[in-house]
Amino acid sequence: MSNKPWSGRFGDATDRRVEQFTESISFDHRLFKQDIMGSKAHARMLAKVGFLTADECQQIERGLTEIQAEYEAGRFEFVLSREDVHMHIEAALVERLGDVGRKLHTARSRNDQVATDVKLWTREALARVEAGVRELQRAFVQAGRRHAGVIVPGYTHLQRAQPVLAAHVFLAYVEKLERDRSRVVDCARRLNLLPLGSAALAGTSLPIDREFVAAELGFDGITANSLDASSDRDFVLEAVFALTLIAEHLAGWAEEWILWMTQEFGFLALPDALCTGSSIMPQKKNPDVLELIRGRSARVIGALTNLLVLVKGLPLAYNRDLQEDKRALFDAFDTVEASLALAAVVVDGAELRRDRIASRIEEGFLDATTLMEALIRLGIPQRTAHEIIGKLVGQCERKGLGRLSELDDADFQAVHPALGPELRSVLGVKNAVQAFASAGSTNPTRVEGELTKWERRLKPHGPTNI
Ligand code: ARG
Repeated sequence: MSNKPWSGRFGDATDRRVEQFTESISFDHRLFKQDIMGSKAHARMLAKVGFLTADECQQIERGLTEIQAEYEAGRFEFVLSREDVHMHIEAALVERLGDVGRKLHTARSRNDQVATDVKLWTREALARVEAGVRELQRAFVQAGRRHAGVIVPGYTHLQRAQPVLAAHVFLAYVEKLERDRSRVVDCARRLNLLPLGSAALAGTSLPIDREFVAAELGFDGITANSLDASSDRDFVLEAVFALTLIAEHLAGWAEEWILWMTQEFGFLALPDALCTGSSIMPQKKNPDVLELIRGRSARVIGALTNLLVLVKGLPLAYNRDLQEDKRALFDAFDTVEASLALAAVVVDGAELRRDRIASRIEEGFLDATTLMEALIRLGIPQRTAHEIIGKLVGQCERKGLGRLSELDDADFQAVHPALGPELRSVLGVKNAVQAFASAGSTNPTRVEGELTKWERRLKPHGPTNI
């Protein structure tokens, strides 16, 4: 006969094929530490309300500590028939303690147990991701400092548009990451209510103290509805959604830098140590790390889709479908944590090719919009000013000139009398960048202020919010 907790009601042992199909130990062993944490807190509560003596509680806690040490040393034995992490740990405890171990499962079910374990795991994982995001923000801010004053073309539709400071580009990613960070913190805050004590679905008739367990495990309080709490996986979906946006932000950035690394752009150099080569083309140096960051976003999006479909239409309360949430959850975290770490390495190693960028920065009439704004300042309506500068660009093209500043005063006057020589002071990318003034713009003084602000905010060892 099997050693299943439900064997009292069953006549036959579980079919091996069913065991193989239903097991989760192959992946939920990653909840080992959290399961033990939860069990210790639960045992202390059981002692407090009188279901365990102080001595029994001590035996259980000691037993659990030993079991965890075995796991950490790689000596813990996994057996398929024990199905999941919860049954493994409990069975190991019963092996050690006999009847005392058989008391631990008082007033709890694997349903509220797994919900609790996954919350504890996710809370920790979110804290790691928050740290990873901050680290990448730090790398971008430093890259901004390192490249102070470097002007690059800003693009819309991937066409040259207006000149921007490289630091302004890097700080754009810092902002995206800051929203990512706040989503992570927010998710960790919302999940932080204890489900344990919801038992199988309806609570328990035993006089337990859930608030005590919540405090022991660092939860802000307890869940209010046992049916909801034992089936709620919103926090898993929210966490993976937060990860998905991080992955998307990283993919967009990686794409940009892959382009910047091309011969055609020639904006960016990465050290050899961060690139890989080709087995056939001796000259190649490829940005594979960036490509894999971009590519692996697919896994995270896949994990989110997986979870959305998994929980769609599930009736209350626990359904075994929910066992599958962990595969997607773990994979999404593994992927994003690794991508964040490598992204910071790449940003730290990146150098802009200042000469290459400067040699072509005046191409594309990046100063045209600034010149148009100079006309607006003289009282010319925007639509008219736009037309005037459009004609000026047309003039350049007809004459085969690459820059507005190459037109002479007579060309300017021929297009419009308001185009006096004093307007030349906004021409050229340096002047154009200086001319920006609005809050949030690429104006150098403002960008400098933003760099300083972020340096202060991201001071190492600043408090984390989870
Ligand atoms: N391994 C299960 C899971 O991860 C634990 C809960 C099982 N509960 C049950 N009633 N079969 O979801």
